[in-house]
Amino acid sequence: MKEFDKYYYYHKSVQSPDADVEFFDKTFRELRGREAVTLKEDFCGTFSISCEWSKLNENKQACGVDLDLEPIEYGKEKYLSQLNDNQKSRVRVIHGNVMSPENPSADIVSASNFSYFIFKTRAELKDYFAKAYNSVNSDGMFIVDCFGGTDTTNPVEEETEHEEGFSYFWDQDSFDPVSNFAQFYIHFQREGEAKREKVFSYDWRMWSIPEIKDLMLEVGFKDVSIYWEGTDEDGEGDGVFRAVKEGEDCESWISYIVGLK
Ligand SMILES: C[S@@+](CC[C@H](N)C(=O)[O-])C[C@H]1O[C@@H](n2cnc3c(N)ncnc32)[C@H](O)[C@@H]1O
Repeated sequence: MKEFDKYYYYHKSVQSPDADVEFFDKTFRELRGREAVTLKEDFCGTFSISCEWSKLNENKQACGVDLDLEPIEYGKEKYLSQLNDNQKSRVRVIHGNVMSPENPSADIVSASNFSYFIFKTRAELKDYFAKAYNSVNSDGMFIVDCFGGTDTTNPVEEETEHEEGFSYFWDQDSFDPVSNFAQFYIHFQREGEAKREKVFSYDWRMWSIPEIKDLMLEVGFKDVSIYWEGTDEDGEGDGVFRAVKEGEDCESWISYIVGLK
């Protein structure tokens, strides 16, 4: 039996860096009327988005920033190593804090997989957004994802079976309506094996779109747009995001929030 590789199962279950970079690139072109060259991937973890960015074309340069050496080393071994020399030369990773003013600026600054939900107070989130604002080039954009819906406030554990022979569990463990603090876990179970509990754990505050939008405007972004994911025939997310003025009240939704400098 193969050794259990938590980042492999995480990638299969929740990441789609190819779709992310395609969306970033297209949205930037539509909103800015030029090609985005540089990307700074805050909270980059295994920096799979940065690696995908470098594959788009030979202009692209990416820089990931993360505090944790473990996912960074994994990304170097599994993703960076798959790139050709030219692509590799355009990807950088900083083992450091997203709050550092020394991090480079970029056309696009991104914070994916809801990583900024670790900020529990408005002041902390505003501070991060202000730092992100300072690191966005003068005609650049800041992009974060957000999720919500009734499934994020009701304790629920959702199992997704993968053809490859494992199940992914998204566990909404607790939610406090007074603070909006929520605890989530990811569990995995490979066929024929015991369930591996709490492989990833998230102690978050659930931020709403209007709160995020207000904070982005307060730190100086001139305009903020919301991109909402469409649904397929089965009512599941179809991975296609469109700019909207109104959302849809569903059990579970994902959106991107884009701030323009
Ligand atoms: C939810 S994970 C997401 C990782 C990656 N974006 C992904 O999609 O897989 C959050 C990441 O943020 C990192 N992190 C938390 N606080 C940070 C900070 N202040 N500066 C840099 N990285 C931070 C953690 O080490 C962790 O890798």
